[in-house]
Amino acid sequence: MKVLIVGSGGREHAIANSVAKSPKVEKIYCAPGNAGIGQIAECVPIGAMEFDKIVAFAKENAIDFTIVGMDDPLVGGLVDALEAEGLRMFGPRKNAAILEGSKAFSKDLMKKYHIPTAAYENFDSAEEAIRYLEEKATYPTVLKADGLALGKGVLICNTKEEALEGVKSIMTDKKFGSAGNRMVIEEFMTGREVSVLSFVDGKTIRIMTSAQDHKRAKDGDQGLNTGGMGTFSPSPFYTEEVDAFCKKYIYQPTVDAMAAEGRPFKGVIFFGLMLTPNGPKVLEYNARFGDPEAQVVLPRMKNDIIEVMEACVDGTLDQIDLQFEDNAAVCVVLASDGYPVSYEKGFPIEGLERFEKEEGYYCFHAGTKLENGRFVTNGGRVLGVTAKGKDLKEARANAYAATEWIAFDNKYMRHDIGKAIDEA
Ligand code: AMP
Ligand code: GLY
Repeated sequence: MKVLIVGSGGREHAIANSVAKSPKVEKIYCAPGNAGIGQIAECVPIGAMEFDKIVAFAKENAIDFTIVGMDDPLVGGLVDALEAEGLRMFGPRKNAAILEGSKAFSKDLMKKYHIPTAAYENFDSAEEAIRYLEEKATYPTVLKADGLALGKGVLICNTKEEALEGVKSIMTDKKFGSAGNRMVIEEFMTGREVSVLSFVDGKTIRIMTSAQDHKRAKDGDQGLNTGGMGTFSPSPFYTEEVDAFCKKYIYQPTVDAMAAEGRPFKGVIFFGLMLTPNGPKVLEYNARFGDPEAQVVLPRMKNDIIEVMEACVDGTLDQIDLQFEDNAAVCVVLASDGYPVSYEKGFPIEGLERFEKEEGYYCFHAGTKLENGRFVTNGGRVLGVTAKGKDLKEARANAYAATEWIAFDNKYMRHDIGKAIDEA
């Protein structure tokens, strides 16, 4: 098979790495990819939102299977555009990707189908939202821009003043663009967060293993929100009891709800969960693999990823026995100092070769490029160093040891990825 992957981050590198292991695959392309992905795939200079060019490329090169890794093209309807030309691809159609694309939609869906989530109200105008904050809200309260906002459209407000300011920035000043045409105001919840990824074929759902992300830039969950500074998998807080609850009240009910709405979901549903004192509740849905969750989940998956993805497309996921290694993985992101605000790029990266020799270690590229035959930094998040171990403690020690193999100017990382496992 010839496979095309759409995206350019560490997540897409992890997907490419799994795809490359499939005996069914003869050639991998990636649009647009990055320098690391370029070692196992042919990168083509087409942006993820250039739908016409992607469709034309897939037709001209007789691509058998396209995997869409990113949220923007999924929500924008890339899958529909490919399907219209008779091409096969993995990912939800536009009418199902709305599960991630509109928070107001996903909240209404959960309410209608009794899926546990925070209490909320949706608002179409700043005036209504302000009235609600003045008269009804309790604090802290949570404001969410309805649409995609690079993971930054959520504001936790401790006081009414902060919340009024938040409504202004989302709905009036349009800080997140059209994502803020509508907004959700919801109840503030407390508890541990867990990311659970799943494969879905429209009716059947198969849960992958659990993981936990670290979104803040600095140790101790301080600093600004980022795209994710590291992950570990599995989460020791995701117990069998939690799993049983979620299977009964969250996972299958979500898949059934989407089907009942005439929006059958095929692809990956990422459940962002909070384990509250009143049981697990959904924080958000994503319609794709997490980044950097994919970097700790996929290396532990035993199945041929292409076989699983084809089963999602064909509606035969019930025949797949999804299996994960009985171990753990930790991913530490190596960023450019100053991320997520401002940082320099273009520094040479040393030490990458070592990862090719060591079993159970991976270096997924996020922001790199080749310059005169050398890898150089080319983004805020540069690399994701993943290591496996027999348990989380060993995986963490291995991952941090491997971060020392890499050198580049202004290298920055958190030193407490996976520290929470000490409390488990
Ligand atoms: P989301 O993009 O919806 O996952 O929100 C981003 C982050 O905001 C989550 O990972 C949580 O840490 C936090 N968050 C979102 N919703 C709530 C809520 N209702 N209560 C407390 N924290 C929240
Ligand atoms: N790591 C969170 C996300 O991919 O949205």
